Amino acid sequence: MTITQSEYRQRRATLMEKIGTGTAIFRSAPSAVMHNDVEYNYRQDSDFYYLTGFNEPQAVAILAPHHPEHKFVLFVQDKDPEKETWHGYLHGVDGAKALFGADEAYPIGELKEKLPQYVTECDRLYYHFGRDKGFNDRIISLWQELIKTYSKRGTGPKAIYDSNFIFHPQRMIKSPGELEIIRKAMKLSAEAHNRAREFAQVGRYEYEIQAEIEHTFALAGGGPAYPSIVASGPNACILHYVENRRQLQDNDLLLIDAGCSVGYYNGDITRTFPVNGKFTPEQKTIYDIVLQAQLKAIEAVKTGEPYHKFHDVAVRVIVEGLMDLGLLTGAIEEIIKEEKYKPFYMHKTGHWLGLDVHDAGLYKHGKEIWQTLQPGQVLTVEPGIYIGPNIKPVEGQPEVPEKWRGIGVRIEDDVLVTESGNEVLTAEVPK
Ligand code: GLY
Ligand code: MN
Ligand code: MN
Repeated sequence: MTITQSEYRQRRATLMEKIGTGTAIFRSAPSAVMHNDVEYNYRQDSDFYYLTGFNEPQAVAILAPHHPEHKFVLFVQDKDPEKETWHGYLHGVDGAKALFGADEAYPIGELKEKLPQYVTECDRLYYHFGRDKGFNDRIISLWQELIKTYSKRGTGPKAIYDSNFIFHPQRMIKSPGELEIIRKAMKLSAEAHNRAREFAQVGRYEYEIQAEIEHTFALAGGGPAYPSIVASGPNACILHYVENRRQLQDNDLLLIDAGCSVGYYNGDITRTFPVNGKFTPEQKTIYDIVLQAQLKAIEAVKTGEPYHKFHDVAVRVIVEGLMDLGLLTGAIEEIIKEEKYKPFYMHKTGHWLGLDVHDAGLYKHGKEIWQTLQPGQVLTVEPGIYIGPNIKPVEGQPEVPEKWRGIGVRIEDDVLVTESGNEVLTAEVPK
């Protein structure tokens, strides 16, 4: 289950049509140090991977549609028996051409010498100043050189345009090939959550539940899409809690936010449930508000709707629920407009999901112009209520009675926008 070479070719062709007489430069992800001379497992940059399927570091991809022969060029690490003995197989320049469809390929060491032929005749550069600071500096130097020599040459780029703006709309719409892998990532994520729920019991530690989840991912050849959050009791009120050291207590809720990454695509699921199998009345009350918010928000995920709609729907249900409990008071429209609910609900209701967990694509195109939902987009729907032990309501709002404190609930599903509405891809995990 992988993306075919013909799909990669099609992706580059689609982008090249937009680039026209420009040249686009994409850089592989930098390696990251874990400690001393030990590195984290390498993970390719998502833009680079989307266009090439090439997962080695120290590579540069060029799209130069105006070039007579070399429209797709790869600079890659040369084959090197000693290096390969230590670090693993390299495709080299021959592999880049034969297996990845490059019209031309060079050793990365020849970048300075070979790059000019692809950028001196184009009228603009497309580049995203990304995580590789050293490479960003090289692009600035290249730019300075091109501008300095422009007057004698009479050709060359006059602007650097951030490639995200022309490229990311393409990444937002998932192809049938991508959806096949995405469904697998969701299925594994769901399976792990279901196992974790069975496994969780009073006395176990959060990290034991984490191990059970990540065991399921690993057995299928995947891994965690992001650091798994296994947050019991009041830890559920910490949005990015990843310590996972606490022992589960009787009457705890357990919030698990974990997703499987497989074939470069990611699941992202949150479920919250009582460790001993039974909600306290307060936990049940809060859970039901979040559940209603989530179900109503999912109903609002429909082709043609503006992106903010499902968030607005969730906020309204949450505010109404908290008002019914006396935790928010006043006029509902004012509470919403002035975001007085934020001490309880401080994040947005979702994000695009794909090669990146917080995937590529704009949410807005202008101050008031929202992205419209379209078939093929994948997003999360993840409302929550977090009543931290030390919660501070905004001025003029009531103090929160002790009985509500320490309750944190989030429910998150991954949703595909379809022609007729949507499909919840993670429905196998009960709510
Ligand atoms: N687990 C990351 C997120 O929900 O955005
Ligand atoms: Mn999410
Ligand atoms: Mn999540």
